[in-house]
Amino acid sequence: MKTQVGIVGGGPSGLLLSQLLDLKGIDNVILEKHTREYVLGRIRAGVLEHGFAALMREAEVGERMDKEGEIHDGFYIAHDGICERVDLKGLTGGNSVMIYGQTELTRDLYEAREKIGGKVIHNADDVALHDISTEKPYLTYKVGDEEKRVDCDYIIGADGFHGVSRQSIPKDAIRIFEQVYPFGWLGVLSHTKPVSPEILYAKHPRGFALCSLRSQAMSRYYIQVPLTDKVEDWSDEAFWQELKTRLPGDIADKVITGPSIEKSIAPLRSFVAEPMRFGNLFLAGDAAHIVPPTGARGLNSAASDIYYLYHAMLAHYKQGDDSGLEAYSQKALARVWKAQRFSWWMTNMLHEFPDNSEYEKHLQQTELEYLFSSQNALASAAENYVGLPF
Ligand code: FAD
Ligand code: PHB
Repeated sequence: MKTQVGIVGGGPSGLLLSQLLDLKGIDNVILEKHTREYVLGRIRAGVLEHGFAALMREAEVGERMDKEGEIHDGFYIAHDGICERVDLKGLTGGNSVMIYGQTELTRDLYEAREKIGGKVIHNADDVALHDISTEKPYLTYKVGDEEKRVDCDYIIGADGFHGVSRQSIPKDAIRIFEQVYPFGWLGVLSHTKPVSPEILYAKHPRGFALCSLRSQAMSRYYIQVPLTDKVEDWSDEAFWQELKTRLPGDIADKVITGPSIEKSIAPLRSFVAEPMRFGNLFLAGDAAHIVPPTGARGLNSAASDIYYLYHAMLAHYKQGDDSGLEAYSQKALARVWKAQRFSWWMTNMLHEFPDNSEYEKHLQQTELEYLFSSQNALASAAENYVGLPF
């Protein structure tokens, strides 16, 4: 098979780029390792920056998001028994975030690809990248015992943190920056009315907690847990009890509990691979960088990579202008690092670090006090949360 752009990975990054390119007549193929059901079974992000929501509309996949998603003009931070609000709209001059689950967004993208005949190949085994430093890169994969080949102009590595694309770059051509945190998040999805109509982050001596939602009938809660904990260690009852303990009393009293629909533990990690281009391979999304979810930046950083790549590809194929492709890595990384900084800042401010000294604990407390005593500090947090400009 021959195509213009070969995309490895059918997660949100790969699907969004594929859809945008296809709408402009740029031929592309996605190779996805898993089934559609498997990809849709992963419960992940829930907060979209307004710029990402606009990109979804540009990709003609914004209809259900605009109907079923919720616009949030603020979020809360609970600490020391009180709860304070970050007024996103007021502090940013009118910006907000969209609450719409990654699962729903991915489903919309799959349906849109199907509707206009997009080539998404599932169950592609043993995907391998070849000749990426040449003008004629190609991909191979297996369906059963049969080996297939896709020749292309460019390869996009959108295959997530554990994918094969980044691993295909020679070790001496890539630099890794990484920080692993000494805890994870235990997440529960539950068919219950959320305790707070807006997202609520909570700092507590027993550890961080987050009250989020997918709709006003579907809650998503998280608590910080040691890396040694296993999902099986946590009954629903134990989870609800611990969540309530970490919230201010008046809020804890209002938590509506119910059976968990999904329960999982995600370790927290910050990671950046530089550069994001090697020859004719371009990395995008989690394949190149990940953040701890505290700032809700992961999926949003993936979307900004896609924005840059889409425009670079358009300039290349429509105007013969390669400047966007040349600048991609540098431009994407400049924004990626700002998302890294914000996620790191929020993670450090709100979690319990087992090895923190008394001095560090004091600074953490001061960070929160400063945030809510300064309009400038609040404005800085708000502009990062709604998303810096692309
Ligand atoms: P992925 O979603 O990882 O998609 C990559 C795709 O590539 C997958 O479908 C995978 O099956 C496929 N693939 C992998 N290897 C291969 C291969 N060898 N060949 C072919 N295909 C392959 N972000 C937020 O903004 N907010 C959150 O609340 C949040 N919560 C998260 C919770 C968890 C548990 C995790 C893991 C992540 C979370 N994130 C969150 C991050 C967010 O989900 C990711 O940033 C987002 O999924 C990135 O999309 P992607 O398409 O780049 O990568
Ligand atoms: C979520 O709803 O899953 C969510 C929301 C905000 C975050 C992280 C996760 O910062």
